[in-house]
Amino acid sequence: MTVRLRRADPGDLDFLVELLTHEEVEPFLAAIRPRDREGLAAEIARSQAEPQDFGRFVIEVDDGGESRRAGVMGFEVANRRSRIANLGGLAVHPDFRGRHLADDAARLLQRHLIFDLGYHRLQLEIYGFNERAQQHAARAGFVREGIRRKAYRRHGEWVDGVMFGLVREDLERDSEVAHEGRGGA
Ligand SMILES: CC(C)(COP(=O)(O)OP(=O)(O)OC[C@H]1O[C@@H](n2cnc3c(N)ncnc32)[C@H](O)[C@@H]1OP(=O)(O)O)[C@@H](O)C(=O)NCCC(=O)NCCS
Repeated sequence: MTVRLRRADPGDLDFLVELLTHEEVEPFLAAIRPRDREGLAAEIARSQAEPQDFGRFVIEVDDGGESRRAGVMGFEVANRRSRIANLGGLAVHPDFRGRHLADDAARLLQRHLIFDLGYHRLQLEIYGFNERAQQHAARAGFVREGIRRKAYRRHGEWVDGVMFGLVREDLERDSEVAHEGRGGA
């Protein structure tokens, strides 16, 4: 199945509100993240106005020859001098789960941020109870870098934040390995 990423536009607003308030998505996203129309519309506008610093992307798949919205993911500049971006707001709609779409989408986003936009380091944080997202992050090539113990108040208790990161050298090494693999075949 072909997975594509494109910047969200105002026509995606209904899809984003439905997805981010879904009972199988909402409990896993950071409590402070907007999920109302106004907040999401502001994010889309910022993504279009400041493409280097902020992005909200729709994950699309081809389904029977038709392009369908399957999920969302995003980033925000964290440190301009050292070219660090925070990733976040990943969600795949429950109708499209189980096919590892998020892995393909994450790889597309990594390459866009590092090779097109020039970031050097990508980082993200996942609640300790969200094992599925942690497995996804590791499969997509992010390195588990540590834990912020009992950092966040979520669902009535203190929960850990598990930190993942990826640097440009990780992608370059992977490209070299793939290249050598082809050369030797
Ligand atoms: C994290 C997420 C984007 C991954 O989506 P995806 O690419 O479709 O992957 P899936 O959710 O289908 O999960 C893939 C694997 O996890 C397994 N899995 C399913 N439910 C699980 C659970 N509750 N705990 C752990 N693993 C689970 C699946 O069986 C599958 O296993 P496999 O590798 O053996 O095939 C998606 O689950 C999601 O949107 N979750 C809610 C929002 C969220 O957690 N966002 C991340 C915030 S940091």
